[in-house]
Amino acid sequence: MKTLPELFQKNEEWRRDIELDNPGFFKTLENQQSPRFLWIGCADSRVPANQIVGLMPGELFVHRNVANLVNHTDLNLLSVLQFAVDVLKVEHIMVVGHYGCGGVRAAMEDQPHGLIDNWLRQVRELYLRNRKALAELPDDGARLDRMCELNVARQVINVANTTVVQEAWRREQPLSIHGWIYSIANGKLSDLDLGVQTNQELRDLEADSYEG
Ligand code: CO
Repeated sequence: MKTLPELFQKNEEWRRDIELDNPGFFKTLENQQSPRFLWIGCADSRVPANQIVGLMPGELFVHRNVANLVNHTDLNLLSVLQFAVDVLKVEHIMVVGHYGCGGVRAAMEDQPHGLIDNWLRQVRELYLRNRKALAELPDDGARLDRMCELNVARQVINVANTTVVQEAWRREQPLSIHGWIYSIANGKLSDLDLGVQTNQELRDLEADSYEG
């Protein structure tokens, strides 16, 4: 049984349009990819990585999960990271959060949400550490948006502290890690100016990030 024919129809139109603009596009991609970027973003359907930055297939290596988290025990993320850094030799890793993130919101709530609370545990801890400073913000929306930014900073630190990035820096492979945030409300991507490309910059960011 064939299902969801409209999606296959869309696929036909998509690949035809690309071939019209770039004859041989897919053939060229078949044998190699050489993306310069690794995007670590939220799984939220409103935050489509390639489209936001206008990149074509082959230009962006992507890992997405709920709340764009970097856990040191996440073999899925670590495998993506190792391949991107060691094999593809990406030069930039961007951790991309977004305002109004449902995962971050759930981590700030006092009621349980089941299994996902385990995944969100590190965001919950980040929230509890920053609760006093967040309480001074005018409303829940502002607190959530600030937490989304703090979460990006935390994940930039987590990426930089992985064995994969540490080993890349040790062998002096050029590799920058960036913290960005996306607004679902207007489609705008912003740089949070959290970029690190050395351990000294990482230590400075860590020192700035421990509040409360
Ligand atoms: Co999200």
